[in-house]
Amino acid sequence: MDREGRVCVGVFDSGIGGMTLLAECRRRMPSLRFYYYGDNGNAPYGGKSKAELLSLSRRVLGLFASIGTDAVLLACNTVTTACVEDLRKEYAFPVVGTEPALRAAAGCENLLVLATAATLKSGEYARLQRERAGHTVCFAPEKLVAAIERNAPFFEKIGMADHLPALHPDGVVLGCTHFVYLKKYI
Ligand code: DGL
Repeated sequence: MDREGRVCVGVFDSGIGGMTLLAECRRRMPSLRFYYYGDNGNAPYGGKSKAELLSLSRRVLGLFASIGTDAVLLACNTVTTACVEDLRKEYAFPVVGTEPALRAAAGCENLLVLATAATLKSGEYARLQRERAGHTVCFAPEKLVAAIERNAPFFEKIGMADHLPALHPDGVVLGCTHFVYLKKYI
């Protein structure tokens, strides 16, 4: 808690992506105090191994622990899918992850899932995909996170056709918090 008795929550992402979640958290829980860590210096996370992601996450969660944070939100699908279980065992405060948005898309026949390569490798995504009745294409736009970081806040400058496959799905899962900024362009 801070000096005024407010519960403190650390919010963490590789860069600006998690700020989309931060904004929603602040709207819904205005009495909490939020600290945000965007690890821009090491972004993007999407091509990193589990060992690298764990090491980067420990550095940030250690920082949150040192300032007395009461809980941490991993506002990053990549870190959640690779590391949430390990991090929950290591820290005394609750560690909340970002759930894959695949469940919400259950009704779509042809679905495009956009996420980072590291996220798509996870067992959770593979399982959810197997359980789906319709057709699913999973795609990791390799350079899109870097383009979002570079162009923010002028997202209209990013040419979607350079990054996305030429498909006409019934629905798209934004499995990376960065991609939420591009919702209307996608
Ligand atoms: N925003 C992150 C996610 O939700 C990570 C993007 C990246 O750094 O590659 O997966």
